[in-house]
Amino acid sequence: MKLRVAVTLLCATAALFAIAGADSPYRFFDWNVTFGDIYPLGVRQTGILINGQFPGPDIHSVTNDNLIINVHNSLNEPFLISWNGIQQRRNSYEDGVYGTTCPIPPGKNFTYILQVKDQIGSFFYFPSLAFHKAAGGFGGIRILSRPRIPVPFPDPAGDYTVLIGDWYKSNHTNLKARLDRGRKLPFPDGILINGRGPGGASFNVEQGKTYRLRISNVGLENSLNFRIQNHRLTLVEVEGTHTLQTTYSSIDLHVGQSCSVLFTADQPAKDYYVAVSTRFTSRVLTSTAILRYSNSAGPVSGPPPGGPTIQIDWSLNQARSIRKNLTASGPRPNPQGSYHYGLINTTRTIILANSAGQVNGKQRYAVNSVSFVPADTPLKLADYFKIGGVYHVGSISDSPRGGKIYLDTSVMQADYRAFVEIVFQNNENIVQSWHLDGYNFFVVGMDGGQWTPASRRGYNLHDAVSRCTTQVYPKSWTAVYVALDNVGMWNLRSEFWARQYLGQQFYLRVYTTSTSLRDEFLIPKNALICGRASGRRTRPL
Ligand SMILES: *[C@@H]1O[C@H](CO)[C@@H](O)[C@H](O)[C@H]1NC(C)=O
Ligand SMILES: *[C@@H]1O[C@H](CO)[C@@H](O)[C@H](O)[C@H]1NC(C)=O
Ligand SMILES: *[C@@H]1O[C@H](CO)[C@@H](O)[C@H](O)[C@H]1NC(C)=O
Ligand SMILES: *[C@@H]1O[C@H](CO)[C@@H](O)[C@H](O)[C@H]1NC(C)=O
Ligand SMILES: *[C@@H]1O[C@H](CO)[C@@H](O)[C@H](O)[C@H]1NC(C)=O
Repeated sequence: MKLRVAVTLLCATAALFAIAGADSPYRFFDWNVTFGDIYPLGVRQTGILINGQFPGPDIHSVTNDNLIINVHNSLNEPFLISWNGIQQRRNSYEDGVYGTTCPIPPGKNFTYILQVKDQIGSFFYFPSLAFHKAAGGFGGIRILSRPRIPVPFPDPAGDYTVLIGDWYKSNHTNLKARLDRGRKLPFPDGILINGRGPGGASFNVEQGKTYRLRISNVGLENSLNFRIQNHRLTLVEVEGTHTLQTTYSSIDLHVGQSCSVLFTADQPAKDYYVAVSTRFTSRVLTSTAILRYSNSAGPVSGPPPGGPTIQIDWSLNQARSIRKNLTASGPRPNPQGSYHYGLINTTRTIILANSAGQVNGKQRYAVNSVSFVPADTPLKLADYFKIGGVYHVGSISDSPRGGKIYLDTSVMQADYRAFVEIVFQNNENIVQSWHLDGYNFFVVGMDGGQWTPASRRGYNLHDAVSRCTTQVYPKSWTAVYVALDNVGMWNLRSEFWARQYLGQQFYLRVYTTSTSLRDEFLIPKNALICGRASGRRTRPL
């Protein structure tokens, strides 16, 4: 797989970027977003291309880099890109979801100004509006450690992005129309590996060398298992945390999650299957790519390797075995410093329960009984311009109250610098996947049944991984700790894309009365203005 780096130098006006981290390098990207024909499962369908590519180009960066990404929307509909796992410190305006950012109108462009402040690791970007994610428009993001920061394993001979996800032959407008009519999504038609169906993608290796794969599940709904025939995988990173290097025969990756594995091409020189299959489904979809040794003596042989299918315990045990390597570096040489999450008392417990049901005869999904509906104005703009009536805080409760699902623009307020425990309680019979923008959280525990305060006794307060997306097993709970040190309006959502589209999300408004730029940046000078904010000025350029 060739690495595609789309870095275009623009004549950047210093004024526009004055707010970004001035001392760190700038990387410029110029992206043209178009509809185009793609054939990932052998039938023609309309995909979302970025600079003609499906999937979109990778973003390569180094800790603290400023990324200046000029996105030209050449679709005939509004468009936004969001950056899964990029924390946008003090700057939720750039988050690219409907609650923070006005859509880029057709034919217009918007320049995102991001800084990958104090981050390392593997992430991805995706289109956030109108079920566009079902059409592509996604790509890998990697943040390398700065040169003097030691990485806890030798430089691999190659470093590949692997985007895996379930896929439909139906185009995104048809899928969206189906959801808008109040129906559920059907079972997907296949699985893509880097935008290709079975046998389509390949990875070239040299015998004896070790490679890094940065795998992200960019699909819409299904947990996936990843494996390589006759090769072992060593997990080294999840969403910016260097893990204890544990070797597995295969890895589960839930929707929205990313991880890095190392593997050594230590087998007889031939081609091998890379296999990806659905987890927890009665019908198992499997797709393959090809691992090609440069001195390969022949094509793939034998059946593609099998993996776990419906076993929950296997997945739970693997999840529990994923620990942080406490002596490894993070974005800084010693990420622990004087701060350790296990020694801090939480100041608030938020319990979130997902549910599914009908409202007015249509399928909806909810968090604590509220099914989110977007407001006519991005919530962050309503805050900035002090426009009342767009939403109200407290429109979602801190714990499930039971009762029927209802629609609202749900916003939960939390204090800046609070240290919060969030419990995801899943009383449904599906595997859920939850993501919080703006933050990584410590995944301190997960187990079957109903969470109670006594569940805290089993928490891992020592070496839990910090990540931005966590799974919750059927009729189980997952608990996370999060230090709310990033002011802004942050989307907390189900990564099941039909569920977030039909309301299983809300915004966490991390609030302070301070107006210091040390706590939150001003609205970007180039911010798009829409809804009830139309006609308001940002700031003079
Ligand atoms: C984007 O691509 C389309 C189709 O190739 C082209 O017509 C348009 O001029 C391009 N826009 C930009 C800003 O490059
Ligand atoms: C999706 O397919 C339908 C026909 O099934 C077509 O009318 C529609 O234009 C397509 N959407 C896109 C974005 O191509
Ligand atoms: C749109 O792109 C042009 C260059 O093609 C750039 O000068 C301008 O700042 C961009 N607009 C926004 C709102 O980012
Ligand atoms: C943890 O990180 C250190 C580097 O600080 C490395 O030497 C060690 O091998 C790692 N241990 C495991 C089990 O991954
Ligand atoms: C946490 O709470 C306990 C019990 O209330 C108290 O003894 C301890 O000092 C607190 N720790 C910190 C770091 O505030």
